Amino acid sequence: MTCRQTTPVRLAVSSANAFAIRWSVPNGSGVRAARSSRQGEGQCRSWQNTFSPLPSSFHAAKPSRLPPLQNRLYGDLNEYKLATANGDGSLKALILAGGFATRLRPLSCTRPKILFPIVNKPLLEWTLEGLARSEVNEVTLATSYNIQASLKQARILKHGIKITDSSDKLKKPLGTGGPIKKAEKLIGHSSPFLVINGDVFADVNYAEVLKLHREKKAVATIVLHRVEDPSRFGVAKLASGNRIERFIEKPAREDAPSHLINAGVYVLSPGIFEHIPKDQKLSLEREVFPVLAEKGELYGCVFNGTWTDIGKPEDYLEINRTMLKAHANPQVYNTAKDAEIKMPVAVDKRVSVGKESIVGPYTVLGQGVVVGDKVRVRDSVVLPDTVVMDSASISGAIIGEGVTVGERAKISKGCIIGDQAKINDDVTLAEGVSVCTAKEVLENVLTAKCIV
Ligand code: GDD
Ligand code: MG
Repeated sequence: MTCRQTTPVRLAVSSANAFAIRWSVPNGSGVRAARSSRQGEGQCRSWQNTFSPLPSSFHAAKPSRLPPLQNRLYGDLNEYKLATANGDGSLKALILAGGFATRLRPLSCTRPKILFPIVNKPLLEWTLEGLARSEVNEVTLATSYNIQASLKQARILKHGIKITDSSDKLKKPLGTGGPIKKAEKLIGHSSPFLVINGDVFADVNYAEVLKLHREKKAVATIVLHRVEDPSRFGVAKLASGNRIERFIEKPAREDAPSHLINAGVYVLSPGIFEHIPKDQKLSLEREVFPVLAEKGELYGCVFNGTWTDIGKPEDYLEINRTMLKAHANPQVYNTAKDAEIKMPVAVDKRVSVGKESIVGPYTVLGQGVVVGDKVRVRDSVVLPDTVVMDSASISGAIIGEGVTVGERAKISKGCIIGDQAKINDDVTLAEGVSVCTAKEVLENVLTAKCIV
């Protein structure tokens, strides 16, 4: 197996922020083709119709931003305001975004998890949209490096929310608890606040969780979600009145006390700061939640709507599939007459699809993607500016940004292709192959492995 690095033409941005680095399109690529939520006690609901886009007037309205309430859960503004923390739009949130995203490599080498697109919109933007609806006006991003440059480059719509970066010290990650203590001054002690795992897509109505939290006078209220295998999550045993009597992080499957997992969305009271030492790495899930459960200060709220932790490639593909059902957009800028688009498909700006190609179902094509003639793409996410040349086929894969897929190349299920990689003509990649950023693959790869 031979791999050769393609020639990067330029670095678009150069800064301390690794994710700000963007490779330009490789030279000489020879392009010849230009769940509905159930309602019950202690359950929190989703925004209906999962994240339909906010109207443009909503984006523009500052500082008093009023979500389109009539069509959502609250028919009446006063009822909505009562459900928020203070009723005065001063709710704050902290997004944990400093993990290493090892399972999403190589794509996470060039973008943080919060910027992974879901049907062509970065995860962070989906989250900010949901937060804006719950009148959150300030978000602290707890990262392991400053990601402001990446945010700027990704052109995130902030929905009027002020975003402050609070990064862990270089090479000194603070875990999931330390960043909360670090942000103590920013958050203040006046009211409860939200904490969200940045790699989680959750269509939760945050205001409802907050309401329960206040009613119970909890120190922490966790959104819980039912899954088949709870072993790779935090697991809660719920007692009556929404109290969590036991919390255990990543138990063996046979030791899990229930199928209700920590969905990575919390409301915390300022009292939480007393449980977290300053400047120290700490796991909220292993070191704080079990203690709060024992003291009767931990509550839970079951959420049955759309939820995913995008940390694993298959889960990332799955949330794209789920969201495609509601957010399909087959408007291809330039489609040959005999090309076929099999719904659901979402296509961003400036995408072209050549003659006799079949795109979909369950396919997302990012901005500027060029699909040649007689190409087959299905069950896949293709990030912006990638070129798929004539007669190539892609199935069940995630293809990075600025990738070149050569003529008659075949990319199978579970493959992940890093940004700016080049898969040469006639190359077949078997199931589960991943290709590192900017690598050129010259020969078939017939077993699952990582090409570095
Ligand atoms: N700033 C900072 N510093 N953020 C961090 C650090 C750190 O050292 N470590 C992790 N994070 C962030 C991650 O970026 C992610 O958004 C969040 O904290 C959770 O970390 P993961 O590494 O993704 O944890 P997990 O998915 O294995 O488990 C967590 O999420 C599950 C739900 O998806 C736990 O909270 C589980 O209890 C939960 O069930
Ligand atoms: Mg995670």
